[in-house]
Amino acid sequence: MLNKINQAKKVLLGNRKKGYTLPTNNNLYPAQWNWDSGFIALGYSHFNLKYAFDEINTLLRGQWKDGMVPHILFHDLKTNYYPNHSVWNCGNKIKSSGITQPPVLAIILKKILDKSIIKDKEKIKSIIQKVKKYHQWLMKYRDPKNSGLVSILHPWESGYDNSPLWDGPLNAIKIEKNLKYKRGDNKVVNPDFRPLDIDYDRYVTIKNHLRKNKYNPKKLYETSMFNVVDVGFNSIFLKANKDLLYLLEKFNLKKKEIQKYLIKSENKIEKLYDKKRKSFINYDLKNNKKITVPSITNYFILFADLKNKSINNEIIQTLKKHNTKDNFFFSSIKPNYTRYEEKRYWRGPVWINCNWIIYQGLKDKDKKFAQIVRNKTIDLVKKNGFYEYFNTKTGKAYGAKNFSWTASLFLDLILEKKYN
Ligand code: GLC
Repeated sequence: MLNKINQAKKVLLGNRKKGYTLPTNNNLYPAQWNWDSGFIALGYSHFNLKYAFDEINTLLRGQWKDGMVPHILFHDLKTNYYPNHSVWNCGNKIKSSGITQPPVLAIILKKILDKSIIKDKEKIKSIIQKVKKYHQWLMKYRDPKNSGLVSILHPWESGYDNSPLWDGPLNAIKIEKNLKYKRGDNKVVNPDFRPLDIDYDRYVTIKNHLRKNKYNPKKLYETSMFNVVDVGFNSIFLKANKDLLYLLEKFNLKKKEIQKYLIKSENKIEKLYDKKRKSFINYDLKNNKKITVPSITNYFILFADLKNKSINNEIIQTLKKHNTKDNFFFSSIKPNYTRYEEKRYWRGPVWINCNWIIYQGLKDKDKKFAQIVRNKTIDLVKKNGFYEYFNTKTGKAYGAKNFSWTASLFLDLILEKKYN
């Protein structure tokens, strides 16, 4: 195991640039990504606390003046990536994309601080304030009616880009005429394992519309072509608000606004529970439709630690039927679903970050099952390598190799015990 631990560390160090880390060392993702950076920081925290904080600080250096933390920061401007910095045409101190990603930062920060001795409290306070500003941005602009639930305005904001969750809302979008762009991703990875061209046409159409509106957050909630309340994103945000509240209290910082909002969220998110299906469902606000796709991300609700024990128990029972008969779980989409695809990106394969999130949620609710999830996940990576995603039946690896968050979360799953 020691060998594997060292290999995981090597993956991270091999992908490290000045103050941040690439998701992988090939040219598939040549920039810094928001939630990747969070997971990466956690991985570093097991062997190099400085690198962990470098990762977080660099990400926050890209924060916009209004508080948004972008989903991509383009440190290197000369890459073949599409859409690159000039296509997005925005950013503050660092060129960036104009959208965000699941806000894992507060969760990661709490995990790191809980197990570290911190000398410079002022520096930590300043990080916490920036994360708070980010949460305030989400509350203000992604939930302008103060409902307790935030919207995502582009599928890329979810982090599970081509999930069938978005098929309904994306089908309703009219693709812009004469779109001109060149994808780079499907030259690096087998196109059978990547999103389809029609998906990209829609992503680019939505992105162009956001740019036309100068990424004005006040306008976009109403006018975006895509507006979805996603259980996964909201569960992460609820958990992040709980962890942020804890940090605000610990460091004697103002907490009222966050506290109020999270109480509202906790009540409101329960309304997304579908009693008949015994699972949570998403809501397409733009088209006023429920989204009932059986996505593993609906179980991120376990991570949010709802107080409602009976709902928690019910969804654990549904989760146990997701794809636990396969050799490896969890499939990103339940295999009996009509639009499930065994090899295609977020439409079927196992992703290590999803397993990690669910494992965190299960730990204090079903210890036995949590340990099974943990061991299976470690086993999958040990046998098949630090890849981006995996086949549920064979374990066959797909996508990028030397994938940073796979290495990071593998490290965390193995080494966390020391601190528990
Ligand atoms: C893809 C994934 C996203 C990830 C990014 C970088 O876009 O869908 O979740 O953050 O790659 O790894």
